[in-house]
Amino acid sequence: MKTIIEPFKIKSVEPIKFTTRDEREKILENAGYNPFLIHAEDVIIDLLTDSGTSAMSAKQWSAIMEGDESYAGSKSFYRFESVVKKITGHKIVIPTHQGRAAEKILFSIVGGKGKFIPNNTHFDTTRANVEFTGAEAVDLLNETGKHPEIKADFKGNMDVEALENFIRKAGKENVPLVMITVTNNSGGGQPVSMQNIRDVKSVCEKYGIPLFLDACRFAENAYFIKKREKGYKNKSILEIAQEMFSYADGATMSAKKDALVNIGGFLSMNDENLATQCRNLLIVTEGFPTYGGLAGRDLEAVAQGLEEVLDENYLQYRIRSTEYLGEKLTSAGIPIIEPPGGHAIYIDAKRFLPHVPPHQYPGQSIVCEIYINGGVRAVEIGSVMFGKYHPDTGELISPPMELVRLAIPRRVYTQSHIDYVAEVLIETFEKRNKLKGYEIVYEAPVLRHFTARFKPLK
Ligand code: F0G
Repeated sequence: MKTIIEPFKIKSVEPIKFTTRDEREKILENAGYNPFLIHAEDVIIDLLTDSGTSAMSAKQWSAIMEGDESYAGSKSFYRFESVVKKITGHKIVIPTHQGRAAEKILFSIVGGKGKFIPNNTHFDTTRANVEFTGAEAVDLLNETGKHPEIKADFKGNMDVEALENFIRKAGKENVPLVMITVTNNSGGGQPVSMQNIRDVKSVCEKYGIPLFLDACRFAENAYFIKKREKGYKNKSILEIAQEMFSYADGATMSAKKDALVNIGGFLSMNDENLATQCRNLLIVTEGFPTYGGLAGRDLEAVAQGLEEVLDENYLQYRIRSTEYLGEKLTSAGIPIIEPPGGHAIYIDAKRFLPHVPPHQYPGQSIVCEIYINGGVRAVEIGSVMFGKYHPDTGELISPPMELVRLAIPRRVYTQSHIDYVAEVLIETFEKRNKLKGYEIVYEAPVLRHFTARFKPLK
């Protein structure tokens, strides 16, 4: 088979500023050893997130010029609405400025004290929006999904038996909705099978509970279903996506991922009554129901992006480039969550740096070292992001995994950029025995990873 090439030509470019190792050492020190505090201009390859970082197509840019900026009933809204309806089949489409705005509106209405929201794994903003209302966010991931080294096709699946037991225990009246996140970002970008969505739906139906999808990466999930699940080989990505959404009564979407735009999102659903409440809140917090926090031009870009993401050539390239990076790293012995997910490679920092204990932040050590080595920016997902202090002893309570995420922006980097990232990682791995841990010298009371400052340990 021939090389899978980028299915696009480059019409407009953005120069990369190169820095030397000495310069990067200074930059990182000034940023308190926290890559979130580095100016993006000082980054050579930015793998901090795949969110809002996509390169838009010529068609999206021209659609932007077609944006209708009427306050109410703009033409751009109707184009946006019709594409979202085509994919989701949902009756009501409410635009929001990004994913978490959709979550905020939905959970403000259905959440509240005494309520529980089960999910395969809540993304952090989803969890925060559930918990902000006083409700409890419950993760019910299947067992294989919890083991980085196990290779399986659908490690994002929800544990259906655990879901049913949970609903029985909590009482169905206390579970306003069940959510499935496709793909499972916090669990390594792993896909969810159609069978699993169907099984979750049948449990939901039995107890009269609506099912919602957190659909940020629905097209990547659909591509995995096509490649890995029996019966889908000859179906189009649109048909698979339509089937996924057909089991859901609603969805929240961050268009910053699979809609290939820099800003945008939506909430979709079939329940008119719930939609009325959502729209009323939308008017207070986001804007009028036909623009919801976006400009007409943004709605156009989302509509066009949603058409483009369904292209199988695009998805083949997309999923392959992530897998390609994963293969390069594993063949050099670097431990990652296997198999590679859709949008990112997750390095297992515990196995990468077994001599650095969680309270010395092994993930942070890797993130700093790859910046110094090659100007690559990644994010720690471990004790820095999710660590909590014991209320009595003050001891650090670490999450189960210490990870470093290399998230790949869509249509931005070429194969040689990815080769370069692999080289930087491999070089860092080769001198892993020399890497030291870090201590935190400043931290904010919540979401400390964004602003914390560190000091390397001697
Ligand atoms: N749900 C999932 C699964 C996500 O990955 C994100 C964002 C959101 C919801 C929230 O969407 O950012 O538009 O408000 N994930 C980004 C990331 C931030 O880097 O993984 P948003």
